[in-house]
This record gives sequence, C-alpha cells and structure tokens, in this order.
Amino acid sequence: TRIHILNGPNLNLLGKREPEIYGARTLADIEADSIALGRDLGLDVALFQSNHEGGIVDQIHDAREVAAGIIINPAAYTHTSIAILDALNMFDGPVIEVHISQVHKRETFRHHSYVSLRADAVIAGCGTHGYTLALHHMAQLLNDA
Ligand code: DQA
Repeated sequence: TRIHILNGPNLNLLGKREPEIYGARTLADIEADSIALGRDLGLDVALFQSNHEGGIVDQIHDAREVAAGIIINPAAYTHTSIAILDALNMFDGPVIEVHISQVHKRETFRHHSYVSLRADAVIAGCGTHGYTLALHHMAQLLNDA
C-alpha cells in the first residue's frame, strides 16, 4: 500500500528554519524515519516537497493514480490555497493534515485552514513526530477500510 507525504513551501529548509518553532530534524531525517516506519506498518512511503502551489497540486494529481492515502503539510498554503483544497477533493483515499507547530497558538492568520475542509484528521503541535503519528493513523484508517 503506497502513501505519499507531501510538504509545502520552506519545509525543504527544516532543521535550519526557525528551529525553535520547527525543531532540528531535517526533511531528509523525516523521509528516512517515515520510510522505515512505513516498512514496519506495511506501507510503501514516498515523500515529496515543493515550494510552489502548482507543484503541490501536480503532486496531488499524481497521487490519484498511485497512492492509497495522502499525508500533507501544505505549510503557508494551508491558509491560502483553494487550489490545493480543490485538488484534494478529487483524491479518493484518506487525507491527513500535519502541522509541526501548534498553529492555533500562533498568529490568527494561521488559525484557518482550507485543507481542513477535506482532511480526515489534523495533527498540529507534535513537532516532526506528527508525521509518525500520521503514519500510524493512516495504517489504521486503511486497515479499517
Ligand atoms: C506549518 C505551519 C504554517 O502556518 C507555516 O506557514 C508553515 C509550517 C507547520 O508545519 O507548523 O510553513 O504548516
């Protein structure tokens, strides 16, 4: 069972980017951890990142063909992108939204998420461990399906 983890803008700089908010782990660390955990859970995990809204839309379209579920951290596009919401609305499997930081404790412009209108679950404020939690929940959702 294939799962795609999609990451939006500025997440390529995880580890360097505001580490007091986003932690020390890099996207490469998250990728390695996710692939290893996926193996234990019976999930074939692939990770993608784009700094461009249309790039994320394309990655969601690609997932339609091959992935059973999507875990997505749309980063700043969470709060602005109807295009990403529309693309997720054409995806049939489970969608889990992840935010590393606790967005509801931060600026009010981070409190609204377009993607949450589609997401089956939302994880925020667990740091990069949120991706691990999301994979465990994804395995459960796909088992129950
Ligand atoms: C984020 C939260 C967003 O508000 C922010 O723009 C990001 C990362 C998070 O993972 O906490 O880039 O999605």
